[in-house]
Amino acid sequence: MAIERVGIIGSGIMGSGIAEVAARAGHQVVLRSRTAETAADMVTRLEKSLGKQVEKGKLDDAERDAVLARVTATSDLEALADCDLVVESVIEDLGVKQALFAELDRIVRPGAILASNTSTLPVIELAVATARPDRVCGVHFFNPAPAMALVELVRPLTASDDTMGEVRAFAERCGKEPVEVADRAGFIVNALLFPYLNNAVRMMENGTATRDDIDAAMRGGCNFPMGPFALLDLVGLDTSLAILDALYDEFRDPNYAPVPLLRRMVSAGKLGRKSGSGFYDYAR
Ligand SMILES: NC(=O)c1ccc[n+]([C@@H]2O[C@H](COP(=O)([O-])OP(=O)(O)OC[C@H]3O[C@@H](n4cnc5c(N)ncnc54)[C@H](O)[C@@H]3O)[C@@H](O)[C@H]2O)c1
Repeated sequence: MAIERVGIIGSGIMGSGIAEVAARAGHQVVLRSRTAETAADMVTRLEKSLGKQVEKGKLDDAERDAVLARVTATSDLEALADCDLVVESVIEDLGVKQALFAELDRIVRPGAILASNTSTLPVIELAVATARPDRVCGVHFFNPAPAMALVELVRPLTASDDTMGEVRAFAERCGKEPVEVADRAGFIVNALLFPYLNNAVRMMENGTATRDDIDAAMRGGCNFPMGPFALLDLVGLDTSLAILDALYDEFRDPNYAPVPLLRRMVSAGKLGRKSGSGFYDYAR
């Protein structure tokens, strides 16, 4: 079954980015946020982002208008009923996502695929919250979704080959380079990346080097486009903490145990770019 109509749930960093990617690839997109205001904000953000592409000459006015014409925003979950694929991208909280999957299962037409953009949570726990576990999988975009080539397709034990094939075709139509991975916390990228990010915070805390020197070292010595602190701020410290907690819960590897400073910063509301302050300060 070809995926034409895509529902996106969650108006955070990732939801908006995935909506842009899917709409630019020619899909009909229904954006769902909890309130009418945040749904409208998502469209405003999309307009801004597309406007930037027009300024850079990557998109013309007619293409921008066509993309926007394919997008509708709503606060009503029922509006997702006739989607072929729904990508959930709300807060990284298993209870919240499970409740949402159970509700989506009731609302969205039988046979449609329900996917999560979770970074670490067990996709099987979302699959078994529905009566269609063969049609549930992970479709994990990277941040910022319009710019990053990778999509991890996460296969829980229950997913059918057809489901995985259809989400692969969707990711490819979106111009992405999908990889398939088993349903283990962190999948490929975060399981390898987060011990590094966590250890960078530990290294700063124990006085081995400063934030700026650690970031400079990883940019200059490994050719990374940004250092670990800049990347933590981009991902969001709350999301990063949730990822480390989930990795530690699953594997009990001390490299995954979040450094206390990270938890304290989240408690203090220092979430990175999205809150205006994290390891660095950002003009808002
Ligand atoms: N930030 C990243 O770099 C990144 C990358 C890939 C995947 N993800 C995953 O994407 C998902 C969303 O992350 P984000 O970075 O966009 O987060 P975000 O904090 O920017 O947005 C979270 C969204 O969830 C909504 N939300 C909060 N509580 C809710 C509730 N109780 N019920 C329904 N919605 C609720 C918020 O209104 C917001 O729209 C998470 O599963 C995260 O792990 C994040």
